[in-house]
Amino acid sequence: MCGIVGAIADRDVVPVLVEGLKRLEYRGYDSAGIAVLSVNDAGVADVRRVRRTGRVAEMEAAAQADGFHAGIGIGHTRWATHGGVTEANAHPHVSHGVALVHNGIIENHEEQRERLRGLGYQFESQTDTEVIAHLIHHHLASGLDLLGALQRAVKELTGAYALAVVSRKEPGKLVCARMGCPLLVGLGDGENFVASDVSAIIQATRRVIFLEEGDTAEVARDGVRVYGADNAPVEREVHVSDVSLASLELGPYRHFMQKEIHEQPRAVADTIEAVIDAGGFPAHLFGAAAPDVLADVESVQILACGTSYYAGLTARYWIEAIAGLPCSVEIASEYRYRAAVANPKQLIVTISQSGETLDTMEALKYAKSLGQAKTLSICNVPESAIPRASKLVYYTRAGAEIGVASTKAFTTQLVALFTLTCTLAKLQGRLNDEQEAGHVDALRQLPGSIQHALNLEPQVQVWSERFAPKQHALFLGRGVHYPIALEGALKLKEISYIHAEAYPAGELKHGPLALVDEAMPVVVIAPNDALLEKVKSNIQEVRARGGEMFVFADADSHFGESEQVHVIRTPRHVGVLSPIVHAIPVQLLAYHAALARGTDVDKPRNLAKSVTVE
Ligand code: G6P
Repeated sequence: MCGIVGAIADRDVVPVLVEGLKRLEYRGYDSAGIAVLSVNDAGVADVRRVRRTGRVAEMEAAAQADGFHAGIGIGHTRWATHGGVTEANAHPHVSHGVALVHNGIIENHEEQRERLRGLGYQFESQTDTEVIAHLIHHHLASGLDLLGALQRAVKELTGAYALAVVSRKEPGKLVCARMGCPLLVGLGDGENFVASDVSAIIQATRRVIFLEEGDTAEVARDGVRVYGADNAPVEREVHVSDVSLASLELGPYRHFMQKEIHEQPRAVADTIEAVIDAGGFPAHLFGAAAPDVLADVESVQILACGTSYYAGLTARYWIEAIAGLPCSVEIASEYRYRAAVANPKQLIVTISQSGETLDTMEALKYAKSLGQAKTLSICNVPESAIPRASKLVYYTRAGAEIGVASTKAFTTQLVALFTLTCTLAKLQGRLNDEQEAGHVDALRQLPGSIQHALNLEPQVQVWSERFAPKQHALFLGRGVHYPIALEGALKLKEISYIHAEAYPAGELKHGPLALVDEAMPVVVIAPNDALLEKVKSNIQEVRARGGEMFVFADADSHFGESEQVHVIRTPRHVGVLSPIVHAIPVQLLAYHAALARGTDVDKPRNLAKSVTVE
């Protein structure tokens, strides 16, 4: 979703802003812009702005053509919420020499708009953001300095925001504010930065301060001052980011999604490192407070969205079977609006690769408001909002995931959830030493099994040629592999735009079978588990209706191939971790089908990587 970058330096910051916006492209956006303060021959500063719908590269070309150079500026990638995708709605928004970029949503913007109209301000956009620019100008005009005007303005806003602001009246500083949306300050040498995501400024500095809720900050060339919600100066810790530049570069790959699919053995190995080092599942893997928080858990409620939700659905099978705890999994945007029955001994688990999905964050806040104090977050982004709001955290170590369609974040979430399952099972007295050692060993072997599944790519690629011309597809799975069918269907629709739905294979005859004919490919996840014979019967139901089947099995499944039934086998059945291995071929299928259709794999239409709006 929307991204922010800002810089103040002795050098030209335009390349820094453009580079930063390019690194934020992965979040999903539909327009981009920058505003800089340029000083004219008479030494007077003024705002220059360029905005374009479409790609950052188009905006960059326009900025170059106009000869943009400056020592201070702000930039933004916008994902439209209030007002369509137009240049007028793109950020930065400007009010009489004040330029501003905003992530988030201002809920009382209508009311503020009316008030500002009454004060004589005219509006050029349909955005909620423009009111903030006018509001800051209004307070500047009343005599406050830029920081004071920002601090006054944000007190009049309700909603969520990360803001970066420059003003021609005070050309030596950037000011910024955070509430509900991430924002950080990057510390350089004689130059400083602001960004919504560390990847935007990593080429310039790794030293960052994560602003906290209600913070404002003044960022000059030679220093940064942070103020708390009461406007009093505060000290915030300086972190050294470990986001690697390599994870932000494509390297030899065509797409980030392809790269990230292939990074899964490494990502999983990194994520299980703590378990391997501990030789088991001690509670403290989830933080110092974990032994207390997890000790008397009676049930588990998982809350998440999208792919993370499917990771949760998979985990339910493990948690109930291995830890013996009742587990429900709910889409965060549904949970937050229903009268859920609270149980203080229930563990609330939020799963979010980005750590900033608004629906998941709000669901967590809602759970806490119901008195649910046992909260655990599984997340891929350190210091992001959701883990910060949770008592316990387990960080997946997938590295930055740039492709909008989640791949390595998903499999590492599954690994984290399996680790949680074993930890809970141990605390429940349901895991003896031998079982614990067996699960550690299974995890140790997992990166290798994932690599074997990746080696199936050429075969999957052949299948994808048959998929590319299709309009629809069905995915079937049973038991713990049903969520993998759901994830496979989601991946395919997200990036290839082929309409795909997933069903538990046993449900086929209750409706979706009516859709099956020669034009409907049916993908079946059918490893050799307890439900294999059932899946084989379901396959016969499809076969009898002329459907073409694409079966992902394992070596032990003994599937007969025919003209109608194509089979790809992973080398061996990996037991309880089988869903993780079977996620790989469905990712590859979606990737290659999308490639064959020529879609924008890493930036699928209408989607965003990190969804910070409702
Ligand atoms: C967006 C992304 C999905 C992701 C979902 C949840 O829709 O495009 O890939 O699964 O958000 O995101 P989260 O960061 O909370 O896991």
